[in-house]
Amino acid sequence: MAITVTPVTPVFGARISGVNINAPLDDAVFAEIRAAFDEHLVLIFSDQPMTDEAQIEFSERFGPLEGTRGVNPAAGTPFARQSNLDIKTGEVIAGDDRRMFYQKANMLWHADSTFKAVPSLCSVLTARIVPPEGGATELASTRAAYASLTEKEKAEIEDLVIEHDFAYSRGLVGFTFTPEELATMGPVRHRLVRTNAASGLKSVMIGVHAKCVVGWPEDESRALLDDLLARATRPENTYRHDWRADDAIVWDNQAAVHRATEFDTTAHHRFMQRTTISSGIPTVGWRV
Ligand code: OGA
Ligand code: MN
Repeated sequence: MAITVTPVTPVFGARISGVNINAPLDDAVFAEIRAAFDEHLVLIFSDQPMTDEAQIEFSERFGPLEGTRGVNPAAGTPFARQSNLDIKTGEVIAGDDRRMFYQKANMLWHADSTFKAVPSLCSVLTARIVPPEGGATELASTRAAYASLTEKEKAEIEDLVIEHDFAYSRGLVGFTFTPEELATMGPVRHRLVRTNAASGLKSVMIGVHAKCVVGWPEDESRALLDDLLARATRPENTYRHDWRADDAIVWDNQAAVHRATEFDTTAHHRFMQRTTISSGIPTVGWRV
């Protein structure tokens, strides 16, 4: 083994050392990283100062990158930017600015891009500037949520299809879109139960964008989605990452959920940059 893999909880997540991911990786080393990802779902790297080019190069080893659309300040690039700093001026953005309100929704448990017709495999988030306190990211395992079900419950959810909808999830925090923005979105359908191709282990793809179970009454649908999320986010199935500058995390978007936590956006600076890797595989697959 070229890399060292150290689990951060008994359930999921591992710290990876002995490798620089900000430099080209040979295939054998990447294969170890990929195997660790399939096993642990969340990989943490430290002391990896990143350029945009290096982040793209590392991320593309996992698969093709999604383009960022719509309302994110980095729209039109391969990056999603989570920051209280204006992308052009570097000045702190006022707390009541629409861009800050938009990012607040990251504080709800979610997986990235489940609202897209082709769901994401994973994301890579790199810490460029971190606040001295606050701004941790919490992660939870939806593989553990699945594993906690009885065999009967597993059978009951095996073939369920979930509708994911970005306008719905942003609406939960009161964020509204312009008609032009809305025209670019719409609900998509994905199978709830996901199977990791390498391990055969199953998980559920859930989070805030999951609006309903197709064909189920609303109350039963909500109860199931809430129950699965509650199972995933039991304390023993979660990991909280307090960032240091130059950390990078890879997280699974089909077997894990994550959420941002508060920091003082008026006193401190935070700039995190995300690349999002597509799975390339539509599941149910088309806009409804
Ligand atoms: C993201 C995200 C959380 C954070 O980049 O997708 O949810 O703590 N970030 O910034
Ligand atoms: Mn996210």
